[in-house]
Amino acid sequence: MDLIKLLLVEHKVILRQLHYLEKLIKVTRSRKDVCCLREMTLLIADAVQRHSKTEDKFLFPDIGRYLHKDKSFIAMMEFEHGEILGIMPVLEGTENPKVIVKEIENFIKTLRTHFLKEENNYFPFARRQLGSNRLRILGNKAMKV
Ligand SMILES: [Fe+2]
Ligand SMILES: [Fe+2]
Repeated sequence: MDLIKLLLVEHKVILRQLHYLEKLIKVTRSRKDVCCLREMTLLIADAVQRHSKTEDKFLFPDIGRYLHKDKSFIAMMEFEHGEILGIMPVLEGTENPKVIVKEIENFIKTLRTHFLKEENNYFPFARRQLGSNRLRILGNKAMKV
């Protein structure tokens, strides 16, 4: 499968999960509910981590060759991955319901913005530069991991 198509499918699945999470935040009242929200978010964050690793490992090195000396775009994407996944230690280390909800809301917002950036700028650039053959080879490699 084409690597970009694979990444876009993962975006779709994760976005559905975020949508569900958001609905759940609205009906969350008790401390116990907040705890469940936290566990769900950690599961989603785990999927996001795997997704980010696929981008780091299979897309960035290839695309880096076309960016020559200006690697700031990749650096920005990597920085954002770190920022998004920074939620994991924070959530694991707190019992405070207000902090948990605030962190989850921030996670949802940052992740959506990041996905939009990738879909509107980064992926079209990668598609133009790498072409379908190379993307298919990379996608097949990524699916074997
Ligand atoms: Fe990403
Ligand atoms: Fe992505």
